Amino acid sequence: MSDPTSEAASTATDENPSVRRLADWDADRLQALASEHDTPLYVVDLDRVRENCARLRDAFPDADVRYAVKAHTGQAVLETVREAGLDAECASAGELDRVLAAGFPGDRVHYTAVNPPARDLDYAVSAWNEEPGLTITVGAADTLDRLAERGYDGRVCVRVNPGVGAGHHEKVRTGADVKFGVPYDRAAQVVREADERFDVVGIHAHAGSGIDAGQLDSHRELVSRMGELARSLATPDEAGDATGADPVDLEYVDVGGGFGVPYEEDAPPLDLQDVAEATRSALGRVPRADTAADADADGAPTEATLAVEPGRYVVADAGVLLTTVNTTKPTAEETVVGVDAGMTDLLRPAMYDAYHPIRNLSGGDREETPVTVAGPICESADVFGTKRPLAQPERGDLLAIGIAGAYGYEMASQYNSRPRPAEVALEDGDARVVRRRETLDDLTRVER
Ligand code: LLP
Repeated sequence: MSDPTSEAASTATDENPSVRRLADWDADRLQALASEHDTPLYVVDLDRVRENCARLRDAFPDADVRYAVKAHTGQAVLETVREAGLDAECASAGELDRVLAAGFPGDRVHYTAVNPPARDLDYAVSAWNEEPGLTITVGAADTLDRLAERGYDGRVCVRVNPGVGAGHHEKVRTGADVKFGVPYDRAAQVVREADERFDVVGIHAHAGSGIDAGQLDSHRELVSRMGELARSLATPDEAGDATGADPVDLEYVDVGGGFGVPYEEDAPPLDLQDVAEATRSALGRVPRADTAADADADGAPTEATLAVEPGRYVVADAGVLLTTVNTTKPTAEETVVGVDAGMTDLLRPAMYDAYHPIRNLSGGDREETPVTVAGPICESADVFGTKRPLAQPERGDLLAIGIAGAYGYEMASQYNSRPRPAEVALEDGDARVVRRRETLDDLTRVER
């Protein structure tokens, strides 16, 4: 592995850099969009989504790359990702419904069921009746029974708890959390039993979200455990402890997503090529069970495919949130700058203490001063940042909050009875509203 702080990701080029920083956005264009559509306003650049997909495909040329749609399920984003050739990984019936509506064929759709509500399983099975290529990933043997009860005998992938977690915050380190996946030491058994009733096509694990270069060892550890498990399933006779078991033919080994992006202005981007090489070498060769026996006779055997599931990496730096300063208040500590976006629009700082870059697009050459940027919600957590050096904000200024494309609109809520913001998509030089701003009427629409 090369120096993790190296900027020189070999999959990145001048035309397609590893990260688009907040400073790289055209401030005049963002100002014009805010004037036309008002704030708070999300802007998502579909051309950048396409670039991110291209870098992923370049770094993982022989892998299945599946977009974890929970990062941003907007229809325009889904269509862009589909056209860019990625598959879709879904976490709920709602996500499945969106993905199918965006035109993903069933054989490019993967549903990862976590303690799935009955309603979601019903939906997934009916979707499978229409699209038999769909794959359901289960994290408990119990879910297999629930699928069988519904007449499902299609493609199944078993999610394993690898016992290794990683990620930007303890709340997103799923890999070591017992909630997710079949315990590693029981996984082989569950897979073999599943293979008797279903078409088992893969095994899956996910370390967590927001893995940076410093956490690649955990990623490697997870992948190598998955490689070992896959080999013991594909070639049980060579695995020692499972001699006599029937081989399970795995189409793929899915090692999850989690590739981090640099939120801080001076944080280095991940070198995706490095990550890809580390992943491939940690996985090792996993023969397809049906070809292992005659590998020598035929030359190179068919191997199980590596699959990855990035969400954040696809959309994070393709999005910004625009917000207007409505109040400035000097205090003994520092000036508090009140803005019209809040934790209801972008929850990550409140929920994970996440850092998002902020820029005063109206600041011109005003002197920089450290400020607290706070929203309009009645909660102390409703703060986007403290001690942020911004060009002296004044009432009416437009601020941009960067790297907001992943888990931004997606985690927005109507708390404090706040309508959710609008979203504009940029593509080929054009801008179009892809989500209208909610109105006060929308707040009571489902009430009786
Ligand atoms: N695959 C599975 C099974 C997942 O649960 C997730 C994310 C991903 C893939 C994609 O992970 P990514 O590449 O986006 O890191 N709301 C949090 C992130 C939660 C991620 C949950 N699972 C945040 O804003 O940081």
